[in-house]
Amino acid sequence: MPTYTVTQPDLAAILLVAAETAREAGALIREAYARDDRTIENKSSAIDWVTQYDKASEALIVGRLRAAFPDFGIIGEEGTDEMGSQPYTWYIDPIDGTTNFAHGFPMFCVSIALYHDETALVAVVYDPLRDECFSATRGGGAHLTVGKVTRPLHVSSETRLVAALLATGYPYDVHTSPANNLVETGLFALAAQGLRRAGSAALDLAYVAAGRLDGYWEYKLSSWDVAASWLIVQEAGGVVTDFDGRPVAIRRMVDLLVSNGHLHEQMVEVLKARRQ
Ligand code: IPD
Ligand code: CA
Ligand code: CA
Repeated sequence: MPTYTVTQPDLAAILLVAAETAREAGALIREAYARDDRTIENKSSAIDWVTQYDKASEALIVGRLRAAFPDFGIIGEEGTDEMGSQPYTWYIDPIDGTTNFAHGFPMFCVSIALYHDETALVAVVYDPLRDECFSATRGGGAHLTVGKVTRPLHVSSETRLVAALLATGYPYDVHTSPANNLVETGLFALAAQGLRRAGSAALDLAYVAAGRLDGYWEYKLSSWDVAASWLIVQEAGGVVTDFDGRPVAIRRMVDLLVSNGHLHEQMVEVLKARRQ
């Protein structure tokens, strides 16, 4: 793989490397998924699992990105935490949807994003079972590639919460923390057309970008869960804020409200009702 020196970054060229890397890691986890030899370890709690394939996928991705961009930092869910000599940082989730992957539930992806400080530049979310590659570059729009066909992505035009399909998720401290999202789930269940808990935040946001979902909210997301699909949603015309509808920057842990824009205020109102 060539080595890149970045002065004015060529985002399209960087996207090619990120997408190729995500596809390679995706092939690794797709093949692993077909075998029945996953070993499970606990991380932060009894329900927070990691398999040997999360680690293998992260090792593959880190190896490829480090070789191509030796001066960039890399933060990965499974322990990679490297400062670069430039203010560029990769955020990696080697398998987003580990619980699904471990149980054999077919909903997981590889997520890779490049940031310059807090500004997202390049994003790839690859679903290896459906061969769907969601991608974006800053100012370059969001796209979905399936096989050899690439098309632009745009969020839905739904304006009525009662007709909206929403998604959410639950933090790994759901058994013990009061901020467990259960009350919010009840409120949205009574306000929306339908709710989904698919188990991959990166795909949830990518699905908002694709207009398959109209909105999404979740507490305590990690940077690597959403770093890539955050840009994909924004480039597809969607809105990403905190629960009050205010701008929010990427950080280690973040609560996010994501929508097609039209539904944002209505979703903020539902989340406000929770706190009254
Ligand atoms: C999890 C998934 C899940 C979300 C959790 C994440 P992981 O990531 O994205 O949908 O609800 O908050 O931690 O552990 O599968 O990489
Ligand atoms: Ca994740
Ligand atoms: Ca993960």
